[in-house]
Amino acid sequence: MRLSAAAVLGLLLAACGQDGGAPGSVPEPGSTGEAPQTTGASTDAGSSTDAPETSEGSSSSGEVEDASSTGDERAEVTPWTWELPPGFPTPVVPEDNPMTVEGVELGRHLFYDTRLSVDGTFACSTCHDPALAFSDGRALGEGVTGEIHTRGSMSLANVAYAGTLAWANPELTDLESHALVPMLGTEPVEMGLVDEADLVARIEDEPRYAELFAAAYPGDPAPMSLAHVTEALASFQRSLISGRAPFDRWFFEGDEEAVSDAVKRGWDLFNVPGECTYCHFGFNFSTATYFEGMLERPYEFQNTALYNEDGQGAYPTGNEGLYAFTGEPTDMGAFKPPTLRNIAVTAPYMHDGSIETLEEIVEHYSTGGRVDSPIAHHQMRTFSLKDDELADMVAFLESLTDEAFLSDPAHGDPWP
Ligand code: HEC
Ligand code: HEC
Repeated sequence: MRLSAAAVLGLLLAACGQDGGAPGSVPEPGSTGEAPQTTGASTDAGSSTDAPETSEGSSSSGEVEDASSTGDERAEVTPWTWELPPGFPTPVVPEDNPMTVEGVELGRHLFYDTRLSVDGTFACSTCHDPALAFSDGRALGEGVTGEIHTRGSMSLANVAYAGTLAWANPELTDLESHALVPMLGTEPVEMGLVDEADLVARIEDEPRYAELFAAAYPGDPAPMSLAHVTEALASFQRSLISGRAPFDRWFFEGDEEAVSDAVKRGWDLFNVPGECTYCHFGFNFSTATYFEGMLERPYEFQNTALYNEDGQGAYPTGNEGLYAFTGEPTDMGAFKPPTLRNIAVTAPYMHDGSIETLEEIVEHYSTGGRVDSPIAHHQMRTFSLKDDELADMVAFLESLTDEAFLSDPAHGDPWP
């Protein structure tokens, strides 16, 4: 049974529960639902209505609420204009850290700055490389001291929409708090900084920062603080929006030539019999996605039958997933379903990099998982695929690579 793209999108929107919430504050289901029939005349059409009205920043200072600034100073920062791909809703941004052009630019400098690590060799970008959709190509992260993380780095594409952060941490929900983990965390050490004084001492001698911090936080007489570093890093990461892959040009903009027939067949198989959308659903291909207008932050963690160490479904020590937080036996091995955007460039796969290729991924699911586990999610069931159908599903997954995103100079390293 084949579903048309429009029908499937309708299902996605209905299942998403967008309609149940506050009408008016949610993205227009009509506009995205009809997207496959449009000619793609304006790729920004969807976003212009969502974006805050901005005009060079000065006349719209009311849009920016910076708690640390007084009214007069607000005018000095430039509110961010989202240029969202068709079909993308507006990300949720914390009220006390509004998106500004200057904040994003400061965050970009910090993200690529090796001064943020104990021996000056590591930046965020060391483990989050734009060419790999901000992942690092390794199975497991390796920190500045050589300590190996128990899990792999994650893509930061569309992290603005992540309902929870990290592979399985229900308590980590904002990018501002998360940034403390790699900089100051000790289990494991990632960048090895000691405290705020250590961080500030490392960046205060760089003349560019004096300007960048002053521009981003004009109301603050001493803007170089750990709080502002985390805010700016968060703003930069929220700007990393990816949604202009060949799949999008076909699905949301109606360009039939944008993808091959294999991709179109693969998309159908992804829906039926794959039922991958059960967990990799919506514009970001993850149910753990959160955006403006949703009533509740998602709480999405599933066990995909990778391990069963003890007959009860145990995962290896240190990688027990959600169980590490809740202690509930049924949460053992439950991890967040990651976005599948740019998935072709973020191998190896899964929280521990234990699956190498997309072919093996599709086989993993079609065989109901790598192991028999009494606590695997019920959607981990077998389905049969012919060889050419497996190739079609892989072709679909590859059509989610957004080349412009991977090489966008706006996200690139700003340092000489
Ligand atoms: C040593 C490698 C390394 C460095 C350096 C590093 N990260 Fe990460 N990052 C990881 C790993 C590994 C994970 C997965 C963590 C987990 O699940 O426990 C991750 C996860 C993340 C996530 C969660 C993404 C999601 O979709 O949930 C964000 C956000 C992130 N890192 C941002 C940053 C920022 C900002 C910096 C710099 C301040 C940084 N990282 C530095 C390895 C690194
Ligand atoms: C029951 C929910 C569920 C279903 C159904 C599901 N996935 Fe997943 N998927 C997940 C979770 C959870 C992870 C992360 C698992 C981990 O790391 O332990 C994941 C990981 C992945 C990854 C690796 C992502 C990365 O960044 O490493 C790919 C690719 C993937 N899934 C594709 C698919 C495809 C294709 C299907 C359908 C055949 C599918 N998934 C069905 C929940 C699901």
